Amino acid sequence: MEKNFIFNLSSEDTKASGSVTWQSPSNIALIKYWGKTDPQIPKNVSVSFTLSNCNTQTTVRYSPKMSSSDGFDFKVFFDEKENQNFRPKIEQFFERVVEYVPFIRNFQFEIHTENSFPHSSGIASSASGMSALALCLMSIQKSIDPQLSESEFNQKASFLARLGSGSAARSIEGPVVVWGQHPSVYKSNDLYGTKYSGEIHDVFTSFHDTILLVDKGEKKVSSTLGHKLMLGHPFAESRFEQAKDNMSRLIAILKNGELDSFIDVVEREALSLHAMMMTSDPYFILMKPNTLEIINRIWNFRKLSGFHICFTLDAGANVHVLYPDKDKNAAVEFIKKELVSFCQNGQFIEDTVGNGAKLLH
Ligand code: DP6
Repeated sequence: MEKNFIFNLSSEDTKASGSVTWQSPSNIALIKYWGKTDPQIPKNVSVSFTLSNCNTQTTVRYSPKMSSSDGFDFKVFFDEKENQNFRPKIEQFFERVVEYVPFIRNFQFEIHTENSFPHSSGIASSASGMSALALCLMSIQKSIDPQLSESEFNQKASFLARLGSGSAARSIEGPVVVWGQHPSVYKSNDLYGTKYSGEIHDVFTSFHDTILLVDKGEKKVSSTLGHKLMLGHPFAESRFEQAKDNMSRLIAILKNGELDSFIDVVEREALSLHAMMMTSDPYFILMKPNTLEIINRIWNFRKLSGFHICFTLDAGANVHVLYPDKDKNAAVEFIKKELVSFCQNGQFIEDTVGNGAKLLH
């Protein structure tokens, strides 16, 4: 229940100053979150691999607020330069979380943030960015309330991150995180992501994700709008059922390591996500010709070689190429020889499944 996350404090508790730094990863959904109701409640279960190289590093410096205003007092620096563009999103985040971390009204903050991946690469930074900020707020709470256990800390960090951006709920831990209630996943719920505690075959803990940057432009459709379009979408209910069924299938696959079935679920999910966008009102296509070219080449290569290489997509044109470590050499050679020429400026990012966010200081 939401009210379990409310933190009560006395004004004496917020006289301290300090600084905290978290590095938080991005994640790639295998089962896609698409459709939500207020406040950031998903319409279906989603599950992701936590990544490691794509991450956001955020330092929050805090000290007692000098002004007597009621508003939030913060400055944001992106790549060491003060940045106004991020203010509205952070302001909205603070408004959504203040009930649970009321101390944020008593402090003034300097938020310094940077991403490991190129700016405007078309890679969503909301998952890593919002989770990093949520973790920093949790560290401040912990400095006031040192008794907070690690599991309470992680749960609430994910809960807060979710209020910033749904997929951020899945960026606290790793290697596999579930968010959204599913009858067969222990402790799964809509309020925060949980580290998947079922059996995971070794093949998945060293999986690779090479992200092909097909189109680095600004997203034409924000995911917030996309989620809204699922409400009243003619295929919504079947889609939410499909995600639930795919999760049931994936539970077995995660355990037995059966890669052909893994590929089937993951590619089906990616294409269903885009099918939803293509059939919403208004409709839109986020794939580019090069996205399709890459998909076809992956299918061809897989058929001819038998290597277990597949793709997934987020709400954009970039392609995430997934493959197990045992197929790494062949996959990398294929990607460099056949796929990189379809990327904008030949850009791609090599990533692997990771274990979650790190407290740096
Ligand atoms: C397609 O988490 O970006 O990447 O909650 O509005 O911030 P908001 O949406 P966001 O949606 C991500 C959708 C997705 C699929 C996924 O990551 O599950």
